[in-house]
Amino acid sequence: MTAALRLGVNVDHVATLREVRGVDYPDPVEAALLAEAAGADGITVHLREDRRHIQERDVEELRRRLRITLNLEMAVADAMVEFAVRVRPDAACLVPERREELTTEGGLDVARQVTRVHTAVGRLTAAGIRVSLFVDPDDAQLRAGAETGAPAVELHTGDYANAGAAGRELERLRAAARTAAGLGLAVHAGHGLTVANVEPVAAIPEVVELNIGHSIVARAVAVGMAAAVREMKDAIARARPS
Ligand code: PXP
Repeated sequence: MTAALRLGVNVDHVATLREVRGVDYPDPVEAALLAEAAGADGITVHLREDRRHIQERDVEELRRRLRITLNLEMAVADAMVEFAVRVRPDAACLVPERREELTTEGGLDVARQVTRVHTAVGRLTAAGIRVSLFVDPDDAQLRAGAETGAPAVELHTGDYANAGAAGRELERLRAAARTAAGLGLAVHAGHGLTVANVEPVAAIPEVVELNIGHSIVARAVAVGMAAAVREMKDAIARARPS
């Protein structure tokens, strides 16, 4: 029997829509609570060093209001570790971060900075935060990940998503999931997953958690458009009753 598969919903891009206008809507916390009500097992947010979408106050409010798991994606940086230790999300996922990137590109190069990652993992773990490392499906990275003391890895599914649903990249993910589980690591996966490409990844038996954001937020725009237009028509009609 395979383990249950948790869905973490990433609400970063709700905040993107808010920040591009400099207004106070849409609210990623409201979106997170709707996701919780719809059956999400966790909420994931990435507090980027440039604060381009999620802000510190969002994470603090999510911490207060969510009943499901809060997973904070963060760079391996002292200021971020201090913030996480103060706010205490249930989980933290260590990711690479470059200011100019559009989204997280590539996994964390753990192999080149085992000591640094080990220190961050130790500080977060001591605060009761369960750490995962966002890594490419690559043996050397998985072995280095196991050395850091982190209990989990999140396999980067971006190359799989870009390559199309089947083939070599799916095989890489399957093999990496086996290797990671063999090293005693819990296996998560995420990035670029959509309703169209998620099934082969969800079928990998070692994977216990998926983190999915952009495609869910994008789909929410489409399925919510009709209701939003009706609300606006009703508001206009109240000013101009026929
Ligand atoms: N997992 C990690 C570690 C990520 O950095 C991201 C993107 O923020 C995701 C999952 C979600 O990716 P997407 O928004 O493409 O579903």
